[in-house]
Amino acid sequence: MRASKRLELIPPYLFAQLEQKIAAKRAAGVDVISLGIGDPDMPTYEPIVAAAQRAVADPSTHTYPSNRGRVEFRRAVADFYRRRFGVTLDPDTEVMAAIGAKECIFNLSLAFLDPGDVALAADPGYPVYTGGPTLAGAEPLLMPLIPERGFVPDLRAIPSSQLERARLMFINYPNNPTGAVAPDGLFEEVVELAARAGLLVVHDNAYSETTYDGYVAPSFLATPGAKEVGVEVFSLSKGYNMTGWRCAAIVGNADAIEHYWRLKSNIDSGLFEAVQLAGATALGPELDEHVRSMNAIYQRRRDLVCSALQQAGVSVSKPKGTIYVWAPVPERFESAVAYCDYVLEHAAVVISPGDAYGASGEGFFRISLTTPDDRLSEAVARLREL
Ligand SMILES: Cc1ncc(COP(=O)(O)O)c(C=O)c1O
Repeated sequence: MRASKRLELIPPYLFAQLEQKIAAKRAAGVDVISLGIGDPDMPTYEPIVAAAQRAVADPSTHTYPSNRGRVEFRRAVADFYRRRFGVTLDPDTEVMAAIGAKECIFNLSLAFLDPGDVALAADPGYPVYTGGPTLAGAEPLLMPLIPERGFVPDLRAIPSSQLERARLMFINYPNNPTGAVAPDGLFEEVVELAARAGLLVVHDNAYSETTYDGYVAPSFLATPGAKEVGVEVFSLSKGYNMTGWRCAAIVGNADAIEHYWRLKSNIDSGLFEAVQLAGATALGPELDEHVRSMNAIYQRRRDLVCSALQQAGVSVSKPKGTIYVWAPVPERFESAVAYCDYVLEHAAVVISPGDAYGASGEGFFRISLTTPDDRLSEAVARLREL
């Protein structure tokens, strides 16, 4: 079977080899602890599950959903954005349901990019920011996120020849994989650039509800002028322990959302309405307490991991958001992959090499905090000993 040339352009999955090694170790009876994937280990909050159970029993949810989303869901998203971020949205034109942020981010590339166009993508970053443009026949232009700049792209370093061809820009704060949060002024700078260069900003807001030490993450759309140039993709996956439900929303620029809707109506048939009704429940103020309790758990885990790394001589700063710790590889290792292999071999702990998220991630590794406390403590003890 021959795959399309388009598909062949996608780089091989960096974790494939790692997965084989893990499988071989487990088969040999080794107790491998994975701190690799960012998938919450705790269940979806009980009121959301109860709302879904009621919704599944309601036959009105059993038909094809509309691609725009059920009005209850769109209103709940708009109410949440007003309450949480101070952003006003028209639920009819400025909110639409998505089958997870991943679907939405990928389809935005198909909706807005032609061959020869450029998409500006954070490096390291969520892989769809480069895979989407590549599959759409366009070119990703990487914006390095480096510690010296607080993991924020240098917008002035984008060559003007590339900027002229740029149609999309992907940004994401709180940031996966670096854990960085947006510094004051960044979103304003992005709005100014997007207006000047005529590009659509896609702010991937997957982690705004997962923050620590009292930090409250803003919406990109709260920035003056943002709605004229951008959309935000808000996912319920991480903040509400709902990765399996595939529940997200795209909000912001009405024209952009209309194009996304036109594309999607040719690709999929929308998000199961029972999931939308559960998502509407998740976004109500009564659920805030659950989110706060979850964040207290992650914050405790973050502190555990960071102090163990610091004790081992790794210079790591505590992230204010996301479910990841991003730390530099010890100097004696030639690469992140070499270090991660060593840790797997000698401590049976899986951590992710930074370059799996883009070339600028070389020299770093990522630890996910989504492992139960006892297993995380065990992994951390092994790392400390190593
Ligand atoms: C930055 C970022 N965006 C999007 C996603 C995917 O979100 P969803 O589950 O809504 O597709 C992830 C998941 O890890 C992520 O880290």
